[in-house]
Amino acid sequence: MNKLFAFVVLTLLFISCDSIKEKVHNPVGNINELGLLPMPDSIVLSDCAFIIKEKLNVNNKGLSSIVQQGLKNFAESNGVEIIKEEEFKKEHCIQFKKNPSLKDEEYILVVDAENITVEASSDAGFFYAIQTLAQLVVTQNSNIIIPGCTIIDKPKFSYRGMHLDVCRHFFDVDFIKKYIDLLAIHKMNRFHWHLTEDQGWRIEIKAFPKLTSIGSKRSETIVEKNFDPYVGDSIPYGGFYTQDEIREVVKYASMRNVTIIPEIEMPGHALAALSAYPELSCTGGPFEVGTKWGVYEDVYCAGNDSVFAFLDKVLDEVCELFPGEFIHIGGDECPKTRWKECEKCQNRIKTEGLKDEHELQSYFIKRIEKYLESKGKHIIGWDEILEGGLAPKATVMSWRGESGGIEAAMQKHQVIMTPNDICYFDHYQREPVEKEPLAICCMTTLEDVYNYNPVPDTLNKEQAMYIIGAQGNVWTEYMKTGDQVEYMVLPRMCALSEVLWGKNSSSGFENFTRRLDVHKNRLKSKGYNCCE
Ligand code: ACM
Ligand code: ZN
Repeated sequence: MNKLFAFVVLTLLFISCDSIKEKVHNPVGNINELGLLPMPDSIVLSDCAFIIKEKLNVNNKGLSSIVQQGLKNFAESNGVEIIKEEEFKKEHCIQFKKNPSLKDEEYILVVDAENITVEASSDAGFFYAIQTLAQLVVTQNSNIIIPGCTIIDKPKFSYRGMHLDVCRHFFDVDFIKKYIDLLAIHKMNRFHWHLTEDQGWRIEIKAFPKLTSIGSKRSETIVEKNFDPYVGDSIPYGGFYTQDEIREVVKYASMRNVTIIPEIEMPGHALAALSAYPELSCTGGPFEVGTKWGVYEDVYCAGNDSVFAFLDKVLDEVCELFPGEFIHIGGDECPKTRWKECEKCQNRIKTEGLKDEHELQSYFIKRIEKYLESKGKHIIGWDEILEGGLAPKATVMSWRGESGGIEAAMQKHQVIMTPNDICYFDHYQREPVEKEPLAICCMTTLEDVYNYNPVPDTLNKEQAMYIIGAQGNVWTEYMKTGDQVEYMVLPRMCALSEVLWGKNSSSGFENFTRRLDVHKNRLKSKGYNCCE
């Protein structure tokens, strides 16, 4: 019965392909030749193909700016123009149809000899269909051919993220845009922009100009891993983004279905801010912006109300700049040394009836959460925010393995998995490490990433629902240039993108690597530096 059905479908497909004037057969024998990545949920190839000649025949009128942006990128990278509105013909065109029955980001893409039809309920779905279309392109004798196919596709996880630390080393707006393009190609939708650190404050805050005039600059940088004895390079280092640049990047990302999650670190990893405003510390300073890597003892004073007034004002500007629902407030690696000896901090512990400094950290985060909630935002924090009690609505980013994420999910909090053994792309990626660029430590291979499942087995079905996705983290102590960042994330983020978009039944590591060979050439042709 099934065979009979398949026979009828195939016959109809052949008939429809034969009926057009210019017959183009599907040039692709095997789906893997296309290097689709992440692999769509379901794809069936047919015998025909759609050919694009010189111009992309699509009716731009009424399409949202995200879809227009997707089409513009598609046209540019294939060296074709989008047809002028008055020249648009209804035959042999790309058509977009709203289909409210599909979920957000889901799409159906049907390519036959006559037309390309895209259905989605949201701009994101249309945008991802265009990303897939771009990966389907086969060029033959300077013709652009799209193999006939029916694709039904949707993501497994709603949070598909990549992080970038721009503090240990600074990356300019052009690189940030290139990085966001990389996310869009891989259907990733969250960019976690780590903007403040001990070693540099990188976002202009109008209310506190010294954050950038002082906090964005360090006197020098440690040379490789020369901690003890310390060796610095004697080269002043700095950089920050103006608010205009941030707005430009936020807009650029939104046109690619990428929401930016800014991270403003607190109460620890704040030495750059304290160098500018030492009165926000427990001791009063003075301080210098960090020149070596690691964790510093000096943190924001949790007993001083002017610290919260300062952070509220900083966050006011951050909320203005970033329209997304989440603000990442850090929360990791905050030593309690200074708090233990600080009169104000100890006084806060007493007056608030807190048990210890862990509860003081929890007080700090809850107070910031309350402020951000009043502005309609939610917080994300690293898994240390569990210590001393979780803020009521916080989302937990689990980095010290998965245990923090498991605990948070059990407490019915949303979780983003970034366990350091799998999701830290600052680790070495292959042996022999002596031949690799200097990295922080450890080995996380492409296969480790590919085989990752962000939902731990220990969670039951209801708890598992709290795992909203995962993210690749890129700490840049040992990455000085964009080229190096690309080398470290490619191809591991390709593997993560497929984990997050969802592996379909035919994919496995072998199958992935076959497609990756094709995909790497695609990335290289776009100017990305990929580890071979
Ligand atoms: C972290 O890696 N300290 C979140
Ligand atoms: Zn204090």
